[in-house]
Amino acid sequence: MLTEENKNKVEELRKRYPTSQALLLPVLWMIQEQEGSLSEESMKYAGSLLNIPYSHILGVVTFYTMLHRKSSARYRIDVCTNVSCMLRGSGKILEHIEKRLGIKPGEVTSDKKWTLEETECLGSCGTAPMLAIGDEYYENLTLEKVDKLLESLQ
Ligand code: FES
Repeated sequence: MLTEENKNKVEELRKRYPTSQALLLPVLWMIQEQEGSLSEESMKYAGSLLNIPYSHILGVVTFYTMLHRKSSARYRIDVCTNVSCMLRGSGKILEHIEKRLGIKPGEVTSDKKWTLEETECLGSCGTAPMLAIGDEYYENLTLEKVDKLLESLQ
């Protein structure tokens, strides 16, 4: 699963991390960077690499909003609804996307193109409201900007 280069990185990190559990987040992050998201198979792989039960890994992946479980959708939209974004209109942004795509957070469009999630702060509060699609941040959003963004990804 991990590239040879990343396997070597893990072995280097093992020397610096006190336990396998402490190494779990960097390993999951490496897998996600390689594959775009975390499949059940890749989470089990991380478990075998670090000798950590799958149930624990699943708990970690669902807790951290920066980690994404593999979805059947092509694009995952993460709309931040934490305080700064909420104060600057993320509720309207989310509602607009829900109406436009016909889905609620946690759902996938019937054409499997989009999935939508509400997320905690993504560290871009100064340019709220914002959303992320993969590693890309879209900031200082307006409803018009959201429409243009969705159209550009058609
Ligand atoms: S509150 Fe939305 S990025 Fe921080």
